[in-house]
Amino acid sequence: MSDIRSFLISNKAGDEVCITNFGARIIQWYTDVNGEERNIVLGYSSLAEYLDDPFYHGAIVGPFANRIENARVEIDGQTYQLDANEGLNQLHGGRHGLSQQFWQLEDQQAQSITLSCQLADGHDGYPGATSFFVEYQLTDDGELQIQLSAETEKNTVVGLTSHPYFNLAGVENAADNHLLTINAEYYTEVDSKMIPTGAILPTKDTRFDFQKPRILTHDPRDEVDQNFVVNPRNKSQAILISPDKQLQLHVSSDLPGLQVYTGHHLFGRFSAKQGICLEPQYFPNSPNLKDFPFALTTPEQPFSAKICYRLVKPQTDITDN
Ligand code: BGC
Repeated sequence: MSDIRSFLISNKAGDEVCITNFGARIIQWYTDVNGEERNIVLGYSSLAEYLDDPFYHGAIVGPFANRIENARVEIDGQTYQLDANEGLNQLHGGRHGLSQQFWQLEDQQAQSITLSCQLADGHDGYPGATSFFVEYQLTDDGELQIQLSAETEKNTVVGLTSHPYFNLAGVENAADNHLLTINAEYYTEVDSKMIPTGAILPTKDTRFDFQKPRILTHDPRDEVDQNFVVNPRNKSQAILISPDKQLQLHVSSDLPGLQVYTGHHLFGRFSAKQGICLEPQYFPNSPNLKDFPFALTTPEQPFSAKICYRLVKPQTDITDN
């Protein structure tokens, strides 16, 4: 088995992000808040614990993030049966998805790192030998830019995301009372198995309306595990603000959906709701739903997407741009 390793990138402001080769995961993100170092990404205290992690902590998930109904896709008239790992459905790329793979180091600089992972033709049913790449870059103004890409030899299904659990209060503290804004007028309705029905419904007058900032309380109504149809891309898809209001996280991406998951299924080593995931993605099951935006990854059309997590400290900048 390959060795599990970690790599540090840092910026001139002193922010530090630690990444591991197992699942290309973000395992720590330290930032200075009024003179104190705060780690804002949940993680284990030893690297070895990541090998048994059931929660996708910090991982790049895929080949297709979120759920695929019956773990089945049709590509060019042919049906492909993928690995099912949530009943009959597939979640986050199946049991041997990218979060469970050892990635190779391609390049490391002071402020950036690139990792790659190759999956063989037929890996867990996905067609086409495919190379996946992630570049993490930490800018001097506190933005973690994640460039995701994939090149394939056959037409295939790719839809990657990043799965850190954020706790802007600092991971040792409760995550209650974060303030959340989601720039979404619509969400994709799901059935009891979390598979989209195909309906795209307004968030207005529902518990999914976060267009104005809302405090995440202990009320079950604030347990969210939902894909949002985010408004066009010139603004942040979501803004999370720490309970003490000293730190903001602005999420932007060129992907059309945002899974917001308030971490209520965490248990054991972590408490329920100790961290919040903000995962830009294609809508769940979109390869099987023709009205949902989705494009196959082909030899001619590689996959490419960008996710930016930007830290803003109100004393320096409180605008959303
Ligand atoms: C999903 C949750 C799932 C979690 C697994 C999230 O992206 O939306 O339903 O439980 O990942 O850690």
